[in-house]
Amino acid sequence: MGKLIIDGGARVSGEIRVQGAKNAVLPILAATVMADGESVIKNCPDLRDVDKTDLVLKRLGCGVNRENGIVTVDTRGMCDCRICEDLMREMRSSIIFLGAIISRCRRAVVSMPGGCPIGLRPIDLHLKALREMGVDIQEEHGYIKCTADVLRGSSIHLDFPSVGATENVMLAAVCAEGITTISNAAREPEIVDLGRFLTDMGAKVQGTGTSVITIEGVDRLHGAEHTIMPDRIVAATYLAASAITGGELCLRGVNPADMRAMLHVLKEMGVKLKCESDKIIQTAPERLKSVHTIRTLPYPGFPTDIQSPFMALTTMAKGTSVFVENIFENRFQHVDELTRMGADIKVEGRSAVVRGVKELQGANVVARELRGGAALVIAALAASGTTTISGTEFIDRGYENIEKYLQSCGAKIRRE
Ligand code: EPZ
Repeated sequence: MGKLIIDGGARVSGEIRVQGAKNAVLPILAATVMADGESVIKNCPDLRDVDKTDLVLKRLGCGVNRENGIVTVDTRGMCDCRICEDLMREMRSSIIFLGAIISRCRRAVVSMPGGCPIGLRPIDLHLKALREMGVDIQEEHGYIKCTADVLRGSSIHLDFPSVGATENVMLAAVCAEGITTISNAAREPEIVDLGRFLTDMGAKVQGTGTSVITIEGVDRLHGAEHTIMPDRIVAATYLAASAITGGELCLRGVNPADMRAMLHVLKEMGVKLKCESDKIIQTAPERLKSVHTIRTLPYPGFPTDIQSPFMALTTMAKGTSVFVENIFENRFQHVDELTRMGADIKVEGRSAVVRGVKELQGANVVARELRGGAALVIAALAASGTTTISGTEFIDRGYENIEKYLQSCGAKIRRE
């Protein structure tokens, strides 16, 4: 794990092929357990969260082979339906296995996921929807015990377009009896990617990417082959790394159509963008302009996951920018660390007011969660002097070899 050491001031310019999406590969790997057979997942990023998901699959009795970005999952040996506390505490998003295990085994026992540094992360919407589908759920002694003699297709309305709840209902619905509709469903591109994989497994899924998803239950699914979509948050993080250093960056293997809200903000800050079907070329100005107000919202709104990296971007912009974090209740932990580097940020509840400064100074800073850690990397690339970032285990959860990608574009960054 170690530390990242960054000597600021070098332009980040060059070309990066963007990794596969963490938030697509996790639910898709979970979905593999629903078929009694072998699935092959390509463009799988090399992340700590994928390591942990592989471990969950192995604990369930599946065979997992991962090399060169290709994961082969063989579920014929699946012999368990439990996710124990140690694994769930390691990665709370393992809760996404719930719907898949219930679909396959008609029962599941999972440790309560609990919260994480950015918020309480309740799963009430997941459990309410599964109960409406006929799942008997007992919450006791820190575990969620589910049995479903019959999984009924139902009309589910989500009080909030929760990504995880949408995914868990989709996974429970694909082999349920009858038709399930999910209204106020999450519309994220990762949901569309999951829907593609489920369809390739033989499921009947319509409407992903819209607020109403319709699933007609089938008797069984089969293994499938799938290539994971590009990671739009990692792509925007690298655009920010280049923009704050006045660089010119070409991103390949990306889908600009998934990134509209983020690209709009970058243009407002003064970068020049040339977008093609799977490529983005960005040229940054000498100094960025501030952004009037950024509000995080469910897709297609501005993504909460890029809030902290883009806040880092505004710390040296000309003018004042305001961020409003509407999705998670504790997603400003990077502010203290950016302040240590000379940023001028005032937090009031869910809002943060950033007054651009001419210079940041290198400092010793600590990453306390994944995207806040990426924000510190971005700030350090433009700061004067050397920055040491500890807590890289958080960054490695979502960014594959971050120092290698940035080194390849001229950044003075190394891992110790
Ligand atoms: C997914 O988390 C992503 N994680 C998150 O990415 C992302 O920030 C989030 O969606 C929003 O886009 C993965 O896909 C693995 P939610 P998820 O359910 O599904 C509330 C990253 O950095 N809520 O859409 O947990 C919840 O408290 C991570 O890559 C309930 O109240 O997000 C939050 O305020 C961080 N009850 C809001 O909904 C529920 O039952 C959004 O949560 C579920 C959620």
